[in-house]
Amino acid sequence: MKLLYIDCCITVHGSASRTAALAETFLSAWRAAHPEADIETLDLKTLTLNPLLGNALRLRETLQGEGRTEGASFALARQFAAADRIVIAAPYWELSFPAQLRLYIEHIAAQGITFDYTSQGQVGLCRAEKLLFLTTAGGSLEANCGSEHWRALCPFFGIGEYHFIGAPMQDVKEIDHEALLRDALSQAKALAESF
Ligand SMILES: Cc1cc2nc3c(=O)[nH]c(=O)nc-3n(C[C@H](O)[C@H](O)[C@H](O)COP(=O)(O)O)c2cc1C
Repeated sequence: MKLLYIDCCITVHGSASRTAALAETFLSAWRAAHPEADIETLDLKTLTLNPLLGNALRLRETLQGEGRTEGASFALARQFAAADRIVIAAPYWELSFPAQLRLYIEHIAAQGITFDYTSQGQVGLCRAEKLLFLTTAGGSLEANCGSEHWRALCPFFGIGEYHFIGAPMQDVKEIDHEALLRDALSQAKALAESF
């Protein structure tokens, strides 16, 4: 079994990134519960991803239309489609997540690899049965467009089970934000066994 970890923990908090701590806690518990499995990490913090514009977009659409998706420009989509489990970690920015993760979604949404259109309508082609999205927020997580986006993308990609764990209020000093982070870390450990 292969778990794909998509690391979008872009941070101003260096090694004290709360989102990275949440991801590391989940992954270490998951590794302990699944010693035979592989974890493959995709580091979105350092990957150059261009938005799909002009000629690049036209070329991509042509290649997809002709089923010529074996090239490097579809490598991220093939990697996403082949994973058995997917974990994504990103901080809560502007009520969702950093633009880098949105760019990643554009790159993995490739017809014939991660989804297709058939006489039955749109169908997902991904192998993964479960996807987990992790985040931490400075304030409230009530208008969590990032989680809702991934929840909606799961059926689009054919992924049956969606999970979300988030720690809110991490920048509110007046409340016990560390307790809220500890609660999220406990949820992450508890989920790792069955994920
Ligand atoms: C560019 C930017 C945008 C942010 N937008 C929001 C936001 O919309 N809502 C919120 O509650 N916190 C927001 N925050 C705060 C982060 O979500 C919060 O500090 C988070 O815990 C950062 O995770 P980290 O410790 O892994 O860097 C933002 C932070 C940055 C740097």
